[in-house]
Amino acid sequence: MCGIVGACAQRDVAPVLVEGLRRLEYRGYDSAGLAVTGGEGGLFCRRVTGRVDDLAAALGETLPAGGTGVAHTRWATHGRPSDANAHPQIAGDELALVHNGIIENHAQLREQLEARGYAFQSETDTEVAASLIHERHARGAGLLEAVRGGLEALEGAYAFAVVSRREPERLIACRRGSPLVIGVGIGEHFVASDVAALLPVTRQFIFLEDGDIADVRRDRVTIYDLHGRVVERPVQVSELSPEAVERGGYRHFMLKEIHEQPAAVAETLEGRHTDAGVLDAALGPGAAGLLDAAQRLQIVACGTSYHAGLIARYWAEEYAGLPCEVEVASEFRYRSHAVAPGTLLLVISQSGETADVLAALREARRLGYAGVLAICNVPESSLVREADLTLLTRAGPEIGVASTKAFTTQLTALLLIVAAFARRRGRPQGEAELVRSAVALPGAIERVLDLEEPVARIAEQFVDRAHALFLGRGSHFPVALEGALKLKEISYIHAEGYPAGELKHGPLALVDSTMPVVAVAPHGALLEKLQSNLQEVRARGGQLFVFADDAAALRSADGFQVVPVPAAPAPISPIVHTLPLQLLAYHVAVLRGTDVDKPRNLAKSVTVE
Ligand code: G6P
Repeated sequence: MCGIVGACAQRDVAPVLVEGLRRLEYRGYDSAGLAVTGGEGGLFCRRVTGRVDDLAAALGETLPAGGTGVAHTRWATHGRPSDANAHPQIAGDELALVHNGIIENHAQLREQLEARGYAFQSETDTEVAASLIHERHARGAGLLEAVRGGLEALEGAYAFAVVSRREPERLIACRRGSPLVIGVGIGEHFVASDVAALLPVTRQFIFLEDGDIADVRRDRVTIYDLHGRVVERPVQVSELSPEAVERGGYRHFMLKEIHEQPAAVAETLEGRHTDAGVLDAALGPGAAGLLDAAQRLQIVACGTSYHAGLIARYWAEEYAGLPCEVEVASEFRYRSHAVAPGTLLLVISQSGETADVLAALREARRLGYAGVLAICNVPESSLVREADLTLLTRAGPEIGVASTKAFTTQLTALLLIVAAFARRRGRPQGEAELVRSAVALPGAIERVLDLEEPVARIAEQFVDRAHALFLGRGSHFPVALEGALKLKEISYIHAEGYPAGELKHGPLALVDSTMPVVAVAPHGALLEKLQSNLQEVRARGGQLFVFADDAAALRSADGFQVVPVPAAPAPISPIVHTLPLQLLAYHVAVLRGTDVDKPRNLAKSVTVE
C-alpha cells in the first residue's frame, strides 16, 4: 500500500526520494509525489496520477534543489486517484505532509477547520491532518510542537513525515499504527515506511515504536515516546543488500521469487532441526511452556497466508492430533467467539503489518487466548513485536504482489511447528515423518521447477479464456484455492478453487468446452475419487489440465492433459504441487501482457482495513 520516503541532508535529496519511491513500487499504488524544501524556490511540490516513472518524467531532467524533502506513493482510500488527492498534501503554501494509514475522524475535523477558514483542495483525510498541523505552525509553533499538537486531535492509524519551508533543515516523522523507520547516514538522515526504500543510501536503521515522534535533522535525530519523553531506540544494521530488492537477470520479481524457493525453504529450515526432530530453541525462549499448554490451534491470516493456514490444519490434525481451526482475519476480528481453554492463536503474515491480522491478534488477547505464535517474514514488523513467540520465515524481501516464496516458506515453518506439537502429543513418528519430509523439500522444489517449460506451453491454452476452475481434494484443496488466487490476481482471468467433491453441487453447471479445469491429483487415498470427479468434467466437454505425481500413473488423452509432477513424500506434496500453479499463473499473465509484479488494484501489504 502507500509508501513514504523522506530525507534531511546536505546534498539535494530529490534523486534519493525518487529512487526510494521506485523501491516501494512493489507495495501497490496509484499516484506519486514529492516535495522538497531548502532550495531557492522555498517549497517545491509535484504530484501525478500514475507511476513513479510518470513523476520522474513530470520532474524533467533538472530535479528540484533542496536538502530536505518527503515523497509518497499513494493507494487511494479517501478520494479517488487524482493529482489533487496524491501526496504530499500542502497546507498554507508552506507545509508538506505525506501520510500512510487512515484518519478516522477526518470528516468532523474538516468541518471544524472549514469553519475556521481553511479551504481544501483535495478529498483526502491527509490534507485535514496537514491543515491541523499548519494551523498551529502558522500561529508560531515550531514544526515539532505543531505536529505534536495536531496529533492530539487525530483518531486512526497512521505514519507521517512532515517538512516546512519555515524550517528547511528539519523533518518530523511519527507513527501510530503504521510502520516507519529512520535511516542513519553520515551527516544525513532518512525516513521510510520500509527499509527497502533506503538500502542504496544506508544499512543502519532505527525502527520507531508506536506513538514515537522523531525530530530528524541532518546530523541528529531526537525521538520522543508516547508520553513526550526523549527515548533512545537502538540502531540496527540490516543484512539486506540493495540487490535483494532488485530483479537480477529475471524479467519479473515474481519469476525471480519463484526460482528462489529452494534456497528460501532451505534457509527457513537451517539450524532448526536435527535428523529426527525439531529444536525447541527454534521458536525462541519460552516456546516449550507455550506449546505444552496448547490444547488446540486457531489459525488466523489473510490472502495467500490464509491458504498456508488451511494446509497446516490437515497436518496438525493428522500428524499431531491437534484440533485446529482456520479463519480469515477480517471475519475473525468481528464475530463473537466461544474460546475453548488452551487455544493458542497462530497468526501467519508475510509482512507482519496486515491491519486485519493485527486487529485479530489484539482481539484474541482480549478474549483470553492461551498465547500468540506468529509466522512472519519481517523481523521488525508490528506482528513480531506483539506476538509471544515468532518463527521467522527467511524468504528475504518479497517484491511481487502475488506471494510465492513467502507462501512456501510459511508452509515450511508450519511443518516445523506441527512437528514440535507431534512430539509433545506423544507422536514421535509424526514428528520424524514431518522432519524427514521437510529435509527433502528444497530438492523436491528444485526438481519441480524443471516443469517451467511444459507449464509455459500449457499457459498458451489459457490466454483467451475468461474463466478457469481449480480442483483438489484433502490437503491439496487449499493448493487449488491458491492456484486460482494466483491466476486471478495477475492474469485477471476469473478463477475459482473448489474441493473436487463439491463439483456436483454447483460448479459443474459452468463446465463446457470453454472452461479449462485444472486438477491437482497426487497419488493417495483420494485419487480414485478425484478421478471420478474428473470424468464428470470430461463428460461435459471440459478441458482438463491435471498435475499428477508419477505414482498416480495418469495418462494424457484427448481433452485430458497430464503434467507429471515429481513424486514427493505425502506431507510436502501440497507444497510441491503449488509451484507448477505459480508458474502457470505467471506465464498466463506474461502472455496476456499484464503488469505481473504490480497487478491492478492490489497492494502487497494491506495496512488499512
Ligand atoms: C495482500 C497481498 C497478498 C497477501 C495478503 C496477506 O493481499 O497481495 O499477497 O497474501 O495481503 O498479507 P500478509 O503480509 O499478511 O501475508
